[in-house]
Amino acid sequence: MLQSNQRIARIAAHINPPNLQMVEEDSGLERVNCRAKGASSGFKVAILGAAGGIGQPLAMLMKMNPLVSVLHLYDVVNAPGVTADISHMDTSAVVRGFLGQQQLEDALIGMDLVIIPAGVPRKPGMTRDDLFNINAGIVKTICEAIARCCPKAIVNIISNPVNSTVPIAAEVFKKAGVFDPKRVLGVTMLDVVRANTFVAEIMGLDPREVDVPVVGGHAGVTILPLLSQVKPSCSFTQKEIDYLTDRIQNGGTEVVEPLARILRIDYFADPIDVAKAGAGSATLSMAYAAVKFADACLRALRGDAAVVHCAYVASEVTELPFFASKVRLGRNGVEEIYPLGPLNEYERAGLEKAKKELAGSIQKGVSFVRK
Ligand SMILES: NC(=O)c1ccc[n+]([C@@H]2O[C@H](COP(=O)([O-])OP(=O)(O)OC[C@H]3O[C@@H](n4cnc5c(N)ncnc54)[C@H](O)[C@@H]3O)[C@@H](O)[C@H]2O)c1
Repeated sequence: MLQSNQRIARIAAHINPPNLQMVEEDSGLERVNCRAKGASSGFKVAILGAAGGIGQPLAMLMKMNPLVSVLHLYDVVNAPGVTADISHMDTSAVVRGFLGQQQLEDALIGMDLVIIPAGVPRKPGMTRDDLFNINAGIVKTICEAIARCCPKAIVNIISNPVNSTVPIAAEVFKKAGVFDPKRVLGVTMLDVVRANTFVAEIMGLDPREVDVPVVGGHAGVTILPLLSQVKPSCSFTQKEIDYLTDRIQNGGTEVVEPLARILRIDYFADPIDVAKAGAGSATLSMAYAAVKFADACLRALRGDAAVVHCAYVASEVTELPFFASKVRLGRNGVEEIYPLGPLNEYERAGLEKAKKELAGSIQKGVSFVRK
């Protein structure tokens, strides 16, 4: 009887944090007794914001990743249920749930990779400033905890506005004396994933074979697809370039407001009740993109060579302190940042616009922490 109670307690222990377990006092069945083990060689990954629209499918896909041995799921709501659900998948990663700020540090201790989709997506009636203020505070708090608990972890930031949340993370780490520019990466993979897909649609190619560098940042005109550098080499008409650039820069709008976009209505000025309208932004394609990027980070940590992807990082590629471009990932995070390569006139004009807007977003992030 005692033995079976202990086994049951162990299972509860690895799914739920101590304050959610129904364990008798002094029974010796605390979480510390958990015997659950993951794959022998693997990385420890935490997802913060794991119960959200992006967080849930992201958690599911990371549980399927053979490079992950331990998966920590943290959120301020619903973490235990999501953790129980994901933990039933018969893949090797051990899943543990953490609920509420008092368990944030436990969620982070010992992690190799921390993925942050915590925050709110933009909703009707919400200004960009509203979104900034909420998410900036969330990312700041989370990064303060990362600085204390796992300062050597690779950090993947998804929470918007990425153009500002990455500078916020950097400032927090600098303040704590642990900033390593190689380890803080803004996830712009969704822009690349969309660009590959949209180019493949136009050119009649398999999206898996298409590689579009997308540089700059992760909002509107700061998203700069370099269509002159697409692989395999493609030649586009000016009409196609305009169409693709606009679609890649505003891909999120197709998800948030599909009908409004077709009707050319400003959804946020005049919300109408359609599709995902108001119910959220890109979550499924974002989870896919986040996993594609996280998997690349883990393969690089393992020592794989030639892992190259676009990411928004501390950079000297332009005069701005942060910029998205192709980077080579390695055991320490960003090992090399590639220059932009030759740009055509259209792209040079786009770059100037992107830099102007990015400069303001970076400054806004920095000021948020320094204020
Ligand atoms: N980088 C990108 O390409 C990209 C793409 C799409 C969305 N996003 C951004 O990702 C973020 C999440 O989007 P979503 O659709 O999943 O939103 P969501 O509201 O569905 O989920 C967010 C989750 O974060 C949790 N959360 C809130 N405060 C938290 C805190 N302090 N600590 C931990 N968790 C907290 C919420 O409880 C919720 O479960 C948004 O900021 C959104 O704009 C980024």
